[in-house]
Amino acid sequence: MFYKFATVLATLLAIYVYRSGRALLYHVFTVPALPKGYFAGGDYKDHCLVLKDEIDNQLNHCEHIVFWDHLDEEDNVSDRFVFLSCDPGRRAWNTVMGPMDDPDPLGHLWIYSTETRSLSPVTLANYPEGHDFHPLGMDVLPSKAGAPSTLFLVNHPRENSTVEQFVLDPAQPTVATYVRTLTSPYFVAPNSLALTSPTSFYLTNDHLMTRRLPGLFGSILPSVEAIGGLPLTWVAHVTVLPDGTIQHKVVAFGIAIANGVALSHDGLYLAVASSSLAKVYFYRRDPSTNDLTLDRKVTVPFVPDNVMYDDEDVLIVAGHPHYPSFIAVVENKPGAKAPSWVVSIRPSVATSGTGESEGHRNSYSKMTGYDSRAPLSASVIAPAALTDEVETIFQSDGSVYGTSTTGLIDSRTGTFYLTGLYEDGLLVCYAEQRNV
Ligand SMILES: *[C@@H]1O[C@H](CO)[C@@H](O)[C@H](O)[C@H]1NC(C)=O
Ligand SMILES: *[C@@H]1O[C@H](CO)[C@@H](O)[C@H](O)[C@H]1NC(C)=O
Repeated sequence: MFYKFATVLATLLAIYVYRSGRALLYHVFTVPALPKGYFAGGDYKDHCLVLKDEIDNQLNHCEHIVFWDHLDEEDNVSDRFVFLSCDPGRRAWNTVMGPMDDPDPLGHLWIYSTETRSLSPVTLANYPEGHDFHPLGMDVLPSKAGAPSTLFLVNHPRENSTVEQFVLDPAQPTVATYVRTLTSPYFVAPNSLALTSPTSFYLTNDHLMTRRLPGLFGSILPSVEAIGGLPLTWVAHVTVLPDGTIQHKVVAFGIAIANGVALSHDGLYLAVASSSLAKVYFYRRDPSTNDLTLDRKVTVPFVPDNVMYDDEDVLIVAGHPHYPSFIAVVENKPGAKAPSWVVSIRPSVATSGTGESEGHRNSYSKMTGYDSRAPLSASVIAPAALTDEVETIFQSDGSVYGTSTTGLIDSRTGTFYLTGLYEDGLLVCYAEQRNV
């Protein structure tokens, strides 16, 4: 009996080490030797700055950023804004990481104009009295020729997590008008969403066992799920019907902590971050059914948080290189800082299916290591992907900018934007040197 038990335990442990060993070794037990700051576009001191709300200090703890494009009749971008979802009260209310002490101070949306380089708070019009606002992931469709856009965002109020629908009018970009609240027993731990039409989206759930569970269950089980790499979370496709009810379909299950999600511009690929396993999953999407088929997995050198496609369908992934430092920040340990790391994932140039060229490239990258420009190369931590090129865009030990969650690149100008879950302000790095 004992031997049987020991064998089962040893087998489970072996599977665990096989699946999670690398992630544990590098993201839990090793403090990565990251620089104070590094930006791939040039010296960070000359190219980057942190934009803050100098008046009320309300632009902080921002989880997500998305571009809101204004298109002309020919679908060319005539103006581009960055939308930010921020929650200054995150240290007292965080349903993903804890604590859940005080849901009262509400979060905010901000809008940044890439044209005038100015920040403005966004007012929520018609928002229901007494309904908490703790925004997380969001997505907005471009506005074409002055037409309004739909904005959906994940909200974590005190009762249960919801998805909020807003409409944005390009004539009044600093107002988001509330449309409705979506609620469902399937919204267990909604985190991030990617729109597939003005009334439908993919939605990740980051945990099956959440901090909303009563007592000790809520304080222990979410960590067991995350650290254990348990493959219990999923991606759903949600369609909102005209009467506000929803159709909900699970399209990918068995992901260990499904976090950020993004749809490629051609609508054929969906990228999903698995935080526990430090991987990004790429699915092929059938646009007629919204069904997904796993295409490939790419390992990243950190615990990935949000994923966003740039204009050329290169995926920008931001995340947390050292989990214990991140937890120390979440737990408000005095002086705690957590590092940042952002990479791009670009599909390798098509090898026209010949194993030879792929094998050749692989041995080449094994010889030289990839990501050779970064102070701490991703190749030290993550094995090279055969299918994709991974390259560092930004690194910081947390002193310049920490707790990176979402990175965006404006491919027209090369400008890079980054938010930090527990940082004050928005990091902006320009391709050209900024004038000081
Ligand atoms: C708009 O885009 C089209 C192609 O989509 C291009 O031919 C045209 O030059 C663009 N117009 C402007 C004003 O950039
Ligand atoms: C979530 O809470 C709201 C407000 O209390 C309630 O109206 C809604 O039915 C709840 N949804 C679920 C799925 O429990």
